[in-house]
Amino acid sequence: MLPAFYDEIFAVTGKPKTLLDLACGLNPLAFPWMGLDGDTTLYAYDIHEPRIALLNGYFRLEGLPEAAKLQDIAHHFPEEEGDVALFLKEMPRYSRNYGNLGRPLLEALRVRWLVLSFPAVSAHGGRKLDGRYREFMHQLIDGHDWPITEMLFGEELVFCVDKSVNN
Ligand SMILES: C[S@@+](CC[C@H](N)C(=O)[O-])C[C@H]1O[C@@H](n2cnc3c(N)ncnc32)[C@H](O)[C@@H]1O
Repeated sequence: MLPAFYDEIFAVTGKPKTLLDLACGLNPLAFPWMGLDGDTTLYAYDIHEPRIALLNGYFRLEGLPEAAKLQDIAHHFPEEEGDVALFLKEMPRYSRNYGNLGRPLLEALRVRWLVLSFPAVSAHGGRKLDGRYREFMHQLIDGHDWPITEMLFGEELVFCVDKSVNN
């Protein structure tokens, strides 16, 4: 599903020249399916050191800037400017572990577009979570006039948030 996933997201956000991937895990290895240009910069943040070393090794092989960073995004919000920031499959845990940091993180990111994803169904199967996470997403940016585009890919619920309306 990766090509369709990124095609549909970037059809909304535009194709980023600079992409941030927060709490990235191994997601940057999906770069070949993102349909992005070879001169893209992909800032990738994670707290797992071997993962960051692997990603920079991979970026080197792709001829991309070695922009994977060992960074705890709860203690140091990313400061790099970009077009799009991905925060996939991690906001529920981030909010659970770090309390109210979700909203200030989203506000601080120096990007036009935020792309967050959540499970639409519980891991044990069966229980629908889309309503709960839709409400959570709207709470996170409550008071900001930031339009949201929602998409569903299998059991992954994605929100593209346009921060360009600056309030
Ligand atoms: C569920 S995985 C999500 C990976 C990726 N976003 C994806 O969609 O495949 C969570 C990742 O977040 C990283 N992580 C957890 N807390 C973090 C923090 N405070 N700062 C940076 N990365 C963090 C973990 O090391 C792990 O690689």
